Amino acid sequence: MVGAPVVVGVGAVVVAADNSNLKNVIAVGSGKGGVGKSTVAVNLALALHQEGSKVGLLDADIYGPSIPIMMGLQGQKPKFNDTGKIIPLEAHGIKTMSIGFIADDNQAIIWRGPMIHKILDEFLSKVEWGDLDYLIVDLPPGTGDAQLSLSQLIPLTGAVVVTTPQEVALVDVKRAVEMFRKVKIPLLGVVENMDSDIFGSGGGEKAASLWQVPFLGAIPLVADIRKSGDSGTPIVVSDSTSVVSKTFREVAHNLSRIIPESNSFKINKS
Ligand SMILES: Nc1ncnc2c1ncn2[C@@H]1O[C@H](COP(=O)(O)OP(=O)(O)O)[C@@H](O)[C@H]1O
Ligand SMILES: [Mg+2]
Repeated sequence: MVGAPVVVGVGAVVVAADNSNLKNVIAVGSGKGGVGKSTVAVNLALALHQEGSKVGLLDADIYGPSIPIMMGLQGQKPKFNDTGKIIPLEAHGIKTMSIGFIADDNQAIIWRGPMIHKILDEFLSKVEWGDLDYLIVDLPPGTGDAQLSLSQLIPLTGAVVVTTPQEVALVDVKRAVEMFRKVKIPLLGVVENMDSDIFGSGGGEKAASLWQVPFLGAIPLVADIRKSGDSGTPIVVSDSTSVVSKTFREVAHNLSRIIPESNSFKINKS
C-alpha cells in the first residue's frame, strides 16, 4: 500500500562540487514520461561500458526511479566509506546511484525544488564516483526543477533527448529542446525509441532535423527490451549480439563521436 505523501523541503545549498573526476556528464531527458528514457539511459551506459569506457549511472528521476530494478539492484542500500562518502552500488560494471536506494518504497514523496537540488548536489559531491569517462544521468520527465538544478550544479557535457516516433513527438522534442537550450545545456542528440507498426517511425528523426539536433538512432519496440529491463539485466548485456543491442552500441558510438575531446571539462570554479 502506498502511504501518505511526505512533503520534504530544505534550504538550497548552492555549492558547486569539484567533479573534475567526471570527464563527461550526460543527462538523458524527455518532454514526457513513459517514452523509454530510463531504458535508453541504462542501455546507453552499458553500451559505452562495452566500448571500454568507465561509466556511472545516476538516477535523478525522483518521481519514478526505475534504475534499481533495471540494474538488478532493487532493495539494496549503499554503504559509506571511511571519509563518509557514499559508495555507489555496482552492477554489470556500472557504478549506480539512485534516489530509489534511499527513499522508502512505500511512501509517495513530494519533492520540493530545494530538496531536489540538495539531493542532486549530494549525489554529485558526496558519492565516491572515482574517475569516470561518462556519468549518465536519468532525469525525471518534463522541464522542471531537476533540469535546472543539474545545470547549476555541474557543467554538463550535454543532454540526450528521448522521444517516441509519432507525429506528436515533435511537440515533446520541441519542449525538451527549448528547456535544455534555456538552461544552456548543449544538445548532443535525439534517440527515437519504440519504433514499430504501432507507433510508426521517423518522427524523432524528423524532429531532430527540424530542431537542428543530431539524430543518434532509432530503437525498435520489442518485448525483449521490456523483459530484460524488468529482470535486472538490460538487453545490451542479456542478449549482447541481438540487433537491438547492436543498435544501442551504434547510438553510444554516435554519441561518443559527437562529444569532442575539448568537451572533457575541468570544473570552472570562478
Ligand atoms: N524499445 C522498447 N521496446 C519495448 N519496451 C520498451 C522499450 N523502451 C522502453 N520499454 C518499456 O516501456 C516502459 C517504460 O520505459 P521507461 O524506460 O521506464 O520509460 P521512462 O523512463 O521514459 O518513463 C518500461 O516497461 C520499458 O521496459
Ligand atoms: Mg524513467
